[in-house]
Amino acid sequence: MKLGVVGLGAIGSMHINNIRQGKVPGVEIACVCDEKHIDPVKFAGLKAYSNVDDMLKDPDVEAVLVATPSFNHFALASKALEAGKHVLIEKPIALTSFDAAKIVELARRQNKVCGVMLNQRTTPLYSRIKELVCGGELGRVNRASWFMTNWYRPQIYFSSSNWRGTWKGEAGGALINQSIHNIDIFAWIFGMPEKLRAWCKFGKYHDIEVEDEATAYFQFPNSMTATFATSTGEFPGTNRLEIACDKGFLVAENDELKITRFASLSEYTRTTKYVFGTPESSTTIEQFPDKGAQHAGVLENFRRAVDSGAAFDFDALQGYNSVCLANAMLMSAWTDSDVSFPFDDAAYAKLLAQKTASSKFREKVDTDFITEFTKSFR
Ligand SMILES: NC(=O)c1ccc[n+]([C@@H]2O[C@H](COP(=O)([O-])OP(=O)(O)OC[C@H]3O[C@@H](n4cnc5c(N)ncnc54)[C@H](O)[C@@H]3O)[C@@H](O)[C@H]2O)c1
Repeated sequence: MKLGVVGLGAIGSMHINNIRQGKVPGVEIACVCDEKHIDPVKFAGLKAYSNVDDMLKDPDVEAVLVATPSFNHFALASKALEAGKHVLIEKPIALTSFDAAKIVELARRQNKVCGVMLNQRTTPLYSRIKELVCGGELGRVNRASWFMTNWYRPQIYFSSSNWRGTWKGEAGGALINQSIHNIDIFAWIFGMPEKLRAWCKFGKYHDIEVEDEATAYFQFPNSMTATFATSTGEFPGTNRLEIACDKGFLVAENDELKITRFASLSEYTRTTKYVFGTPESSTTIEQFPDKGAQHAGVLENFRRAVDSGAAFDFDALQGYNSVCLANAMLMSAWTDSDVSFPFDDAAYAKLLAQKTASSKFREKVDTDFITEFTKSFR
């Protein structure tokens, strides 16, 4: 698959390195594109464009990877689909579920593979949790709780770019940027809720417009409930996911999964004669130090979907779901009320437009800053 990569910043460069190091079999770089100066040493030997319209006319380009800032994912992905290319979009797929839905529809009309880089799903720990929960081994899920508060970012993270932390540039913060991965995994495992209520704090820890702390409560149609909390202002924070099921209890934390198994708890609750009784149970602990294939794995899956119609696990609809949940949490916080699903994409887009109307890209700081990009991953 011949790939055109648009956006050669931190993540675009990493994708190019992965491909050049042979980590993504079957993918070749047809060309790269960035509207700013393209370093001739770093990108030596690659055909380069400064304008995406020119790149999309290149017949060598079969598929496009959009790795620009979040605010132009929708416009660039739409252009690429209209030009007849397959498209993989960095997360989030778009700033609003309203635009994400348009991408899903456009990809369907153009009959092209289109998806989103939600790489954390390739983490073996999360695949194992999905297998246990969705495979039915643990029975009905009663409750889940995810505290994902180890997304700490200092102020320089925001100040070193002109788009981060602004309504105009990202349409959100901890939810749509960092936690979009966790929100995606949450929807991937549990599906979509029927309603949620969320509370957010905006610029609590940083000089930013958007949320740097959020807490949400979810209700699902089958009486399952869930809570989710995230923050970019705490250190060290935690990444702890608990899932209470009828036949088991899972705790994932520090790269290990504690699985406690028992016979049906609802049955025991109904029938035991022991006033302070608890069911017989056994506990095992599984270790997950390996982070899996991550970005290279998603790109490889995309390549297989394009080349041979293989099942694509990261399709645009999944990108829609994660953005929809992130948007819904903000909408709930803004309106101080419950939000129901199916989500009113258009109503959210209107509310966001009010925020972006007075939002500006910020001046980048001119002091030196140091980027150790791989430390950004969790
Ligand atoms: N999946 C992940 O793990 C992960 C990690 C980091 C960032 N991201 C996502 O990747 C995206 C980019 O993040 P980044 O940190 O690399 O940003 P960045 O600011 O470092 O780089 C963005 C690049 O895009 C270029 N660009 C902007 N508009 C363009 C246009 N119209 N045409 C061509 N080039 C254009 C800029 O000049 C810049 O070089 C964001 O949406 C972010 O959310 C994903």
